[in-house]
Amino acid sequence: MRTPLIAGNWKMYKTVAEAVELVEALLKEVEVGYADDRQVLICPPFTALYPLAPLLAESPVALGAQNMYPASQGAFTGEVSPVMLQEIGCSFVILGHSERRQVFGETDELISKKVQTAIDYGLTPVLCIGETKPQRDGGEAEAVTLGQLRAGLGGLAAEQIQDIVIAYEPVWAIGTGDTATPADAQAMHAAIRGALSSHYGPETADAVRILYGGSVKPDNVDTLMAQPDIDGALVGGASLQAESFLRIVNFR
Ligand code: PGA
Repeated sequence: MRTPLIAGNWKMYKTVAEAVELVEALLKEVEVGYADDRQVLICPPFTALYPLAPLLAESPVALGAQNMYPASQGAFTGEVSPVMLQEIGCSFVILGHSERRQVFGETDELISKKVQTAIDYGLTPVLCIGETKPQRDGGEAEAVTLGQLRAGLGGLAAEQIQDIVIAYEPVWAIGTGDTATPADAQAMHAAIRGALSSHYGPETADAVRILYGGSVKPDNVDTLMAQPDIDGALVGGASLQAESFLRIVNFR
């Protein structure tokens, strides 16, 4: 069975001092009465990863980065490598977030290289895919999303796919308060799993966790998580405060 994963994407929010404060607040609750039937991940900015790692080391909360460069080292000014992330205790890395695609011009080709390299260095990629509003209105949501899925997974083999995490994040739902309906999200998640199944086989498709992202909040998480193909959430805004993130972690 797939263990639900609730992931916080802090984006470019939180100084080190603020990050430590938030993690301390989260750990107080997560350690008391934490259910083993779900996994929690936080992805703070690069500067906060190193100071947070020792706080999280003995906790049930995993640490991830929001991006990385697809090489172990080199003359890539301003970039961070998977080796560096591994060294400080990251186990996940968000790749291909729509903000990376739109603001920084990341292409499917680059994202696919990142996914492959993350796997090579033992990091679990959280590959983000999803359509824009004009694409949805034009009836292209599924074609665009599945195209990004195929391109992002590139030439990976079935054994490499089963541990990876996919996040379906319709771009129009990110940071807007405008969530996909549970039925629309479920339909896309089922299409993603169907595509994985036809390419890699049903066993692999059954093992892959598919998160929903885009304005996940305390008041909509329960109905989203009740959908059979929604295996977790990638949470932006609502992950920046302990109370709202904990309510999402404790979805029912
Ligand atoms: P949001 O962001 O929850 O603030 O919509 C989600 C994301 O960008 O991963």
